[in-house]
Amino acid sequence: MHRVLPALLCTAPLLACSTQSSEAPGSDAPDATASHDRDDGGHGHGGATHGHGHHGGGDHGDNGHGYKGHRFEDPQDWVDHFESPEREAWQKPDAVVAKLAPARDAKIADLGAGTGYFAVRFAAAAPAGQVFAVDIEPGMVEYIDARAERDGLTNLAAHLGQPDGPALPEPVDLAFMCDVFHHLADPQAYFEAVAGSLREGGRVAIVDFRKQLPDDAPGPPEAMRMSADAIVEIMEAAGYALVGRELELLEYQYLLVFERA
Ligand SMILES: C[S@@+](CC[C@H](N)C(=O)[O-])C[C@H]1O[C@@H](n2cnc3c(N)ncnc32)[C@H](O)[C@@H]1O
Repeated sequence: MHRVLPALLCTAPLLACSTQSSEAPGSDAPDATASHDRDDGGHGHGGATHGHGHHGGGDHGDNGHGYKGHRFEDPQDWVDHFESPEREAWQKPDAVVAKLAPARDAKIADLGAGTGYFAVRFAAAAPAGQVFAVDIEPGMVEYIDARAERDGLTNLAAHLGQPDGPALPEPVDLAFMCDVFHHLADPQAYFEAVAGSLREGGRVAIVDFRKQLPDDAPGPPEAMRMSADAIVEIMEAAGYALVGRELELLEYQYLLVFERA
């Protein structure tokens, strides 16, 4: 049982916080997740099954590579799934990037970037900035580097991360993570490590699947899914404060935004 989010203390003018449970419908004010006007961003679950169990690790435990669930070794196994038009309809990647509104020169890390689905969009949104697309799977890292070269995205670089932290080459204004949190073996330790790579005023944005979803929803099985409240609790333990949350932007997922407490 996860606790209901307490009333939030809003210290920045652009933040509007609600007191409702993160599992209930509702949304913050439109700017709740946007950049604070300073120099500061599935599983690609394309189908209804998420594919858990198809690539080993069907027990949702550690898959022997430092994270939970199945592996994402070969990008060719996943690219159609992650980049499908069906996913785009509910994932709304452009709306997510627009909501986060990174500055043109922002430095952004896409943590668990997969095939670069969000990373390429962040690179387009921050043409004078730099995007680090981090993944733990060497195959994904190679794939993203090739994609950046093919698409002429000179501000996008792939980076091999570790299970316990991204080991970013330089601090970032925005650390973004979509559909990866529930795979982390020790999310608190992971985001304690991320905190050391955030620039002054830097944000962490997390998108993941709601705990309560219809049976035919895309994404991981219920046993793997985490409520927004559970993620907030872990992030607070890791030294962050919730500064924005979007509960209605996406059909199946929440978007949570944190800053260092
Ligand atoms: C479901 S995919 C999501 C890909 C991408 N974020 C998207 O939305 O399309 C999960 C990705 O997270 C990666 N991953 C899992 N654990 C990780 C970790 N500790 N650090 C970095 N990447 C990780 C996997 O290799 C995989 O590419």
